[in-house]
This record gives sequence, structure tokens and C-alpha cells, in this order.
Amino acid sequence: MPYTAQSDRYKKMEYRRCGNSGLQLPVLSLGLWHNFGHVDLFDNYRSILRLAFDSGVTHFDLANNYGPPPGSAEENFGRLLKQDFHPYRDELIISTKAGYYMWEGPYGDWGSKKYLVSSLDQSLKRMGLEYVDIFYHHRPDPNTPLEETMAALDLIVRQGKALYVGLSNYKKEEAAKAFEFLQRMGTPCVIHQPKYSMFERWVEDGLLDVLEKNGVGCIPFSPLAQGLLTNKYLKGIPSDSRAAKPTGFLKEEQVTGERISQVKALNTIAEKRGQTLAQMALAWLLKDKRVTSVLIGASKPEQLADSLRCQDNINFSTEELNAIEAILK
Ligand SMILES: NC(=O)c1ccc[n+]([C@@H]2O[C@H](COP(=O)([O-])OP(=O)(O)OC[C@H]3O[C@@H](n4cnc5c(N)ncnc54)[C@H](OP(=O)(O)O)[C@@H]3O)[C@@H](O)[C@H]2O)c1
Repeated sequence: MPYTAQSDRYKKMEYRRCGNSGLQLPVLSLGLWHNFGHVDLFDNYRSILRLAFDSGVTHFDLANNYGPPPGSAEENFGRLLKQDFHPYRDELIISTKAGYYMWEGPYGDWGSKKYLVSSLDQSLKRMGLEYVDIFYHHRPDPNTPLEETMAALDLIVRQGKALYVGLSNYKKEEAAKAFEFLQRMGTPCVIHQPKYSMFERWVEDGLLDVLEKNGVGCIPFSPLAQGLLTNKYLKGIPSDSRAAKPTGFLKEEQVTGERISQVKALNTIAEKRGQTLAQMALAWLLKDKRVTSVLIGASKPEQLADSLRCQDNINFSTEELNAIEAILK
């Protein structure tokens, strides 16, 4: 069946301005790190993508190495773009990244101009695109001058291969320096992608302030701590979960007794709010207006449907916030 997007999709989603830029993003964006590789099922990930777009999710996040095997998430996304989403290209914000190991030799990793430019060319081919909307440097490179990496991002925009640039996993000091270089070159950084969830709070120690000061948006990744901040591990490790899969980045040993006690206590608060724990964990991030969008993953359409409903209540009372903090201490 050819796909036609639901006509009421934009009524179902809130959009926030990304820093000081002209770009607006949905409060929930979908990442293709897991569940979209050649090891995964086409019909399943097609349903996830269709549900996302039908629900107002306009932003899809990739990277050169997503799969497995690396590159296959971009290939599969490209196939679906061609089959389903081609008429909607101008309604989509597609991002990709380079910064982690992708190919052999000295030019397939980190942050040189050679790597970034070649990698984006490969990504565009895999997805069948002329340009991406956002291109990220995926992690800081201690051995390449920051000026060179930022000049590569500026070049890519001037070549028309990306509209906007972003940074991921940069700490506050290096992010501030990078923003300055990019600003001077006339290609301001629009977005920063850090790991941020109830279980991962480093961004609160200055990064969010640096982003606000520089007019840069924030899109937290792994907002559900890869599934830990949901009700799925309450009774052990299900066989179809990320922690149980050999290709999953979440390891069994990360599902500790201490974590599960916290998850149980958080789940009780979520229930009192009339939400699932996943919904509460996402709402908890969105209560901060400096967070432009939260970048979720999903292995099933039902999970995405559940997470999307976090929008029904993103307000927290002081008592609720204090109770959450007491659990996370
Ligand atoms: N910049 C970076 O360095 C970086 C690093 C990592 C990720 N990212 C980006 O962030 C995106 C999201 O990361 P993530 O997948 O770790 O995010 P996440 O939202 O924290 O975790 C997603 C996983 O949680 C489980 N889940 C999701 N919704 C659920 C629900 N409602 N109920 C129960 N379980 C649910 C599923 O796990 P199961 O598979 O167990 O069902 C799903 O695969 C990635 O796709 C990628 O785009 C970026």
C-alpha cells in the first residue's frame, strides 16, 4: 500500500525553536541508532517511521555508523525515504553525524576535515539525499585542532551538503570554544546533542547555561537511559530487550538491583501522575524550555505511541520534583 501521511499530524505535536535559529523541532524526535539496521525487521521499522511522521515527528536522527552493520541504518532509511517519504522531503529534518570509527586507515575516524567531508559524502549516497538538514561532529577529537573540525563543518554548509551544523558529546568548555569559531565563520552551531536523562545529569553542570548563552538548542539523547527508565526491566530482563540482544549497547550488568529499586520508586510516582514511567522520564526533560526536543529510540510502534503521550502532562509540582530528586540521589 502506498503511504499517505495523516492530514492531522501537525495538530498532534508541539514544536520548539532550536536556540536562536529559525529552525523548529518537534518536542519528540526519533533516532535510528538501534532497530533500523540490516539485522532488524523492515516491516517493523517501516511501521515505526510511519507512526512517527503521522504523529508530527518531523526530525529523524542518524549517524554514519548506525546499524549494525555500520551504514545500514542510513541505507534502510534511504530506502524508506524513496518508498514512503519522498513527497514529504521538505517536511523532514534529517540529521547525520561523523566522529566515531567508520572505516579503516587514518581518515575514517575522529575529526579531520578529510574524514568529515568524505563521511558526509558517503552518508548522502546511502540515504539518496542531496543534502542533510543537520550535520554533527559526533564527539570531540583531542588530536585535531578544533579550528580544523569547525572549518570542515563550515565548508560542508557552504558546499550545500548540510543546512545546519551541530555538535555532540562536547563538554561545556570545548563547546563554548567551538561555538566561537563557528560564529566567526558565519555558520553558527544550532544544536548540541548530549546524553541526558534522569540517570545522566552532567549537562546540568554548566553545559545547559553555555547553550542558552550562545543561543544553541539542546536535544538530549538516550532520554530513557536506553530503556532503563521504562517499566520493561521491572520484572527481569525480557528476551527481546536491548539488554538481552547481542547487538544492544545496553549491557546486562547495567541493569543492577540498585537501578531497578530506583526505577520501581520512580514508577510509583509516574503512576500517581497517571503516566507510564517512559512518559514521565521524557516529560521531566521537557519541563526545561532550554531542551528543544528529546531524541528517543523505539523498537516497536507501541513504544513510540506510549512515549508520544508524554506531551499530555509535562508539568511537575514541587513535591513531585523533590520526590524524584530524593530517589535519584
Ligand atoms: N550523539 C550520540 O553520541 C548518541 C549516542 C546514543 C544515541 N544517540 C541518538 O539518540 C537516539 C535515542 O537513543 P536511545 O535509543 O538510547 O534512546 P532511549 O529512548 O533512551 O532508549 C530507547 C529504547 O528504550 C526502549 N523503549 C523506548 N520507548 C519505550 C517505552 N515507551 N516503553 C518501554 N520501553 C521503551 C526500547 O528498548 P528495547 O529495544 O529494549 O525495546 C528502545 O529501543 C539514538 O537513536 C540516536 O539517534 C546519539
